[in-house]
Amino acid sequence: MPLAACPTPPMGWNSWNAFRTRIDEQQIVSMADVIVSTGLRDAGYQYLVVDDGWQAPRRSSGGNLQPDPARFGQGIDWLADQVHQRGLKLGMYLAPGRATCAMIYDAYPGEGLGSFGHEADDLAAYGEWGVDYLKYDWCEACRDDTGLSYRGAFEKMGQLIADSPREFVYSISEYGRTNPWEWAPGLANLWRTTPDIDPSFSSVRGIADAQRGLERWSRPGAWNDPDMLQVGNPGLTLAECRAHLGLWALLAAPLMAGNDIRTMNRSVAQVLTNPRLVAIDQDPLGRQGRRIQREFRFDVWLRELSGGQVAVGVLGSGERASEPTTQPLRVQVGDGLVRVDNGTENVIEIGHDGPVTEVWSGEATSEVVIGARDLALFTIG
Ligand code: GLA
Repeated sequence: MPLAACPTPPMGWNSWNAFRTRIDEQQIVSMADVIVSTGLRDAGYQYLVVDDGWQAPRRSSGGNLQPDPARFGQGIDWLADQVHQRGLKLGMYLAPGRATCAMIYDAYPGEGLGSFGHEADDLAAYGEWGVDYLKYDWCEACRDDTGLSYRGAFEKMGQLIADSPREFVYSISEYGRTNPWEWAPGLANLWRTTPDIDPSFSSVRGIADAQRGLERWSRPGAWNDPDMLQVGNPGLTLAECRAHLGLWALLAAPLMAGNDIRTMNRSVAQVLTNPRLVAIDQDPLGRQGRRIQREFRFDVWLRELSGGQVAVGVLGSGERASEPTTQPLRVQVGDGLVRVDNGTENVIEIGHDGPVTEVWSGEATSEVVIGARDLALFTIG
C-alpha cells in the first residue's frame, strides 16, 4: 500500500527545468492554478513537483529540514493544502547523501541538506506535511564518507516508504549509472535511465536513442524515466517539442512538464494536452515502444497499444545537426499502412490491421509531410 500503484506513467509538472532553484511558494501556487486553468490537470498532469532548492540553508537544532523562510514562509504543509485544494498532488525532492545536487552544481547555499542519517525523519516530515511523491536524487551521495552504494541508498528509502503510513510515488534518479531497470522495479515507481536532459533536439534524440533495449523492463507500476520534459522551453522549436513529446509517449515515459506554463503559448499548451498523444503515453497495456528502423534521414518508432492498436512515429532526423533544413519527408498513409519514401533509398512500410489516425490532428489522412526534427505520429487499429 505505501508505494503508489502508478498503473500508468506519472504525469505532472516539475520546477527544475525552467527555474532550477529560483522557486517560491507564490510561484508554485500560481503554477497549480495554471495547471488547472490551461487544462493540464484534466489532461492528466496531476503531480506538481517542487524539485531541489526549497530548503533553508540549515536543518533545525533538532535536525529537521526546514523550508527556506523567505521563499516558503508558510510551510510545506500549507503548500500541500494549496495543491490538494486544486485537485493536484504534491511532489518534493530529497537526496540521499550529505548534499543535494543544487549544492554541488548550482552553488545553492546550505549545509547538510542531504538526507544522510536523517532518512526516516525526512520521510516522516514529508508524510506529515502531506507530500504524495518523492523524487530521490543520487547527487554523488557516496562522497564525504557516507559509505553509501547506489542501490543501498535507494533501497533504504524504499524500505521506509514501504513502512510508511502515507502512500508515496517513489521516483529515483541515479542517471542510469547502475542499470536501475534491473533492480528498481518493485522498489520504485520510476527510475531515471540517462543523464540530465537539456533543451536541445540533440539531447532529446540522444536520450530517446539511449532507451534502446530498456523496453523490456518497463511495466505498469514500474517505469523507465528518460527525464522531465523540455517542451516549451527556449531551445526547442514547436516541431521539436512535438517530436520530444511524441517520442516520450512512444516510450511510455513519465510526462513531467518542465516549462513556465504561465507564459507558454497556445500551441505548446495544445501539444502538451493533446488527448490522443496523452492516450498513447497512458495506454493501459503499459508496454514501452522502441525504435525499429534507422535510415539516413529518419527513424521509425513503434509502440504496441491495448486493443490491438499500434502507435507509429516517423522522426525526421536530418542528415546532420548542422543542416537541419533538409528536403521535406513524405509519409504516405493508406488503410492499415504507413509508408515513407524519401526518393533516395528503400521505401519503408509499416502495416497493421485497421484505419490510420494522425495523432496531432485526430484525423484520417493520406499524407503527412514533415521537416527534419519533426515527428509524424499515427495510431493504427
Ligand atoms: C539532478 C537531477 C535533476 C534535478 C537536479 C536538482 O541534476 O538529475 O533532475 O533534480 O539534480 O539539483
